[in-house]
Amino acid sequence: MPEPLLTRYLGQPGREEIDAYLATGGYRALARALRERTPDEIVAMVEASGLRGRGGAGFPTGRKWKLTPKRDGETRYLVVNADEGEPGTFKDRTLIEGDPHQIIEGMVITAYANQVHQAYIYLRGEFFLGHRRLSRALAEAYARGYVGRNILGSGFDLEIVIHRGAGAYICGEETALLESLEGRRGFPRLKPPYYPAVRGLYDRPTVLNNAETMAHIPHIVALGPEAYKSYGPPILYSVSGHVTRPGVKELPIGTPLREIIFEHAGGPRAGRSVKAVFPGGSSSAILTAEHLDTPADFESLQKLGSMLGSSAIIVLDDTTCIPAVIRRTVEFYRDESCGKCTPCREGTVWLSQILDRILCGRGRREDLDLLDSIARNMTGTCFCPLGESVPPSLRASLRYFRDEYAHHIEAGACDVAGGPHR
Ligand SMILES: Cc1cc2nc3c(=O)[nH]c(=O)nc-3n(C[C@H](O)[C@H](O)[C@H](O)COP(=O)(O)O)c2cc1C
Repeated sequence: MPEPLLTRYLGQPGREEIDAYLATGGYRALARALRERTPDEIVAMVEASGLRGRGGAGFPTGRKWKLTPKRDGETRYLVVNADEGEPGTFKDRTLIEGDPHQIIEGMVITAYANQVHQAYIYLRGEFFLGHRRLSRALAEAYARGYVGRNILGSGFDLEIVIHRGAGAYICGEETALLESLEGRRGFPRLKPPYYPAVRGLYDRPTVLNNAETMAHIPHIVALGPEAYKSYGPPILYSVSGHVTRPGVKELPIGTPLREIIFEHAGGPRAGRSVKAVFPGGSSSAILTAEHLDTPADFESLQKLGSMLGSSAIIVLDDTTCIPAVIRRTVEFYRDESCGKCTPCREGTVWLSQILDRILCGRGRREDLDLLDSIARNMTGTCFCPLGESVPPSLRASLRYFRDEYAHHIEAGACDVAGGPHR
């Protein structure tokens, strides 16, 4: 098992302060990048590292940077997505609170590689501690000359602004985030034809990356792409739910779910067994104990009809009522739907009403087909991926745990909870 790269110093007292960061080689990758590398060389290094964005979609970071037009004299922006709203995901917050300079250093290198002079961090509004630590870290970085004008005497300038969101999940979606950053309501923009790389913030080319993605950049530059890859490449899994040691686990990408859950997160409580798993946050299709030997990577999970998403593994043991969990996730998407498109706005309400009646002991035989039909009609018809996130889990639960739904309808009660749910 390789040593952790991104989380090596997490939890050390005072780690969020610049002196602790500098003492372990912090900002050295930036100094080398500015002194020894051209922007194009850094883009090539990131491409060669194989890094894929950690915000959920897994788009190759180097390719995204290459797609960003770099015409002379044209304003470009860097926007870092630190909204982290996906249920079960807490890796970005952990980095922001525990090692904020790593993200700032990644941002300055990214800005240099893409010749950007203005950057924003869109930070989840509820991250009070994260905001305090990140703001302080940014002030320290300005004071020591790692951000601002003529960084380390290189002639390169970068301003970074922290912008706090108001806690809407949709504002994590990149185009809704840009709307919100521009001061409007967080409604997603139509894409295609234009993606943020080409027309993003204020209609300008915008490099938009996740906060964890930024934290990988100094390591890629410091180690070189090949040595970086020998660490896995690394990924941060947020492991939560019915495990005895939940938390952020830095592991090589593709570690099997079983190893992550049992070895690194302590497994379920004594006497309990794993019943189901969300492998990539609540937007990923639910899997069963039979899938535990699957490597937690983009391709393997996609083959099962699920996804790695934000790499948030939510473990459910045998005391869990699956229809109740699915109702809770559907309610989340219902409450967070921005309302812009009908399938998402109406579909999530219909689904939660039907799930309500099933769980309250008033389900009808035809309800399971009705749930499936609504979910099918939402698939491929929503304006953005928020609404599209609902059908995979619901349909997977109907496939793997149909008997549980049927029991609620026939018995009017839950065999796990003992009676009807409220
Ligand atoms: C509903 C929704 C919510 C999202 N929330 C986040 C988020 O909180 N943080 C994030 O980095 N990406 C989030 N994403 C993904 C972003 O749209 C985008 O793909 C990502 O920030 C790009 O960065 P990356 O290439 O480094 O992964 C969300 C997407 C959707 C559809």
